[in-house]
Amino acid sequence: MSTFWSIWVIVMTLIVLGGSVWLLLATRRIEVTDAKQAAEKGQPSTTGHSYDGIEEYDNPLPSWWFNMFMITAIFAVIYILLYPGFGNFKGFLGWTSAGEWERDVDRAEQRYAPVYAKYRDMPIEEIISDPDAMKMGQRLFNNNCSVCHGSDGRGSYGFPNLADADWLYGGTAEAIKASITHGRTGVMPAWGGAIGEDGVDQVTEYVFSLSGRQHDAAKAQQGQQVYGTFCASCHAVDGTGNTALGAPNLTDGIWLYGGSPTLVKHSIRAGRNGNMPAQQGQLKSDKINLLAAYVYRLSKVQ
Ligand code: HEC
Ligand code: HEC
Repeated sequence: MSTFWSIWVIVMTLIVLGGSVWLLLATRRIEVTDAKQAAEKGQPSTTGHSYDGIEEYDNPLPSWWFNMFMITAIFAVIYILLYPGFGNFKGFLGWTSAGEWERDVDRAEQRYAPVYAKYRDMPIEEIISDPDAMKMGQRLFNNNCSVCHGSDGRGSYGFPNLADADWLYGGTAEAIKASITHGRTGVMPAWGGAIGEDGVDQVTEYVFSLSGRQHDAAKAQQGQQVYGTFCASCHAVDGTGNTALGAPNLTDGIWLYGGSPTLVKHSIRAGRNGNMPAQQGQLKSDKINLLAAYVYRLSKVQ
């Protein structure tokens, strides 16, 4: 909050609070001229206001009601002294919602740490046959991974399917765990400049021939040379890819970025840079182990 708005809030708060208390005290009783006379006659005094013959008595607020107003006002003063709310004044208790959230998280961590700790050093092959562990894994997956990989882990455009047997970086328990822990960055350079639009066209036909797809044989033959020169180093001579680089297998008909001619050409012409964020900063190794086991099992049970 800027200083101006801070002062604005402080002044407004003071006016409302002070004004309410003043109003309460100032109108406790109205000065009435006939109060004495009325008292002598044994009648309740009136404010002198009369509407269609109905007179307004000058009765004070019931004391419980008056006291409640006063307690509320005192409570308000104490509250804004202790907690934030009075402009930029942070309150004497130093309370913040973020601090409270962190305390809650700490408490939860302490409470559940022993539950998770059990899985920290357990081999992934063993975790997958523990139904409780798989339930925890699924919950962790939904909270941390499903935004990108889908709640069923089947991925979508640019986000790999984790529930099949096709892996960019390898499907062993260790490889999956490494993907999650350290993250992955796919580097497919843009080739449009180096091989030109004709080259993109030709090598696309060759890439299609690798998966036995319909293709232009003449172009594919020219494309094979382009492929040998520019692509084989990463995607392997036979097109089956390289898990050390995350270079996808181009022979299996599974496409991370779509298999239509337009999309494949776009991949080749402009390059692709998928990014899997590293989880080691956010998640402890026991949770990562559970997630790796969950993903590992996902790809086995289809
Ligand atoms: C911000 C989106 C995003 C989130 C969140 C995310 N991922 Fe990923 N993940 C990706 C992308 C993109 C790739 C592919 C990287 C590439 O193209 O090289 C990937 C790759 C992977 C791979 C390697 C797949 C393969 O074929 O080798 C695994 C395993 C994986 N993610 C698991 C997870 C798990 C488990 C979580 C939750 C802790 C998670 N991811 C959260 C985007 C995400
Ligand atoms: C430096 C290594 C490297 C070279 C060289 C390379 N690629 Fe790639 N390629 C990759 C990587 C890594 C990916 C995956 C990118 C990602 O995960 O975001 C990829 C992705 C692709 C895709 C998308 C695959 C899909 O499933 O959607 C196609 C098509 C492709 N490359 C074709 C080629 C062709 C054709 C050439 C040669 C002109 C080539 N690549 C050269 C590393 C390389």
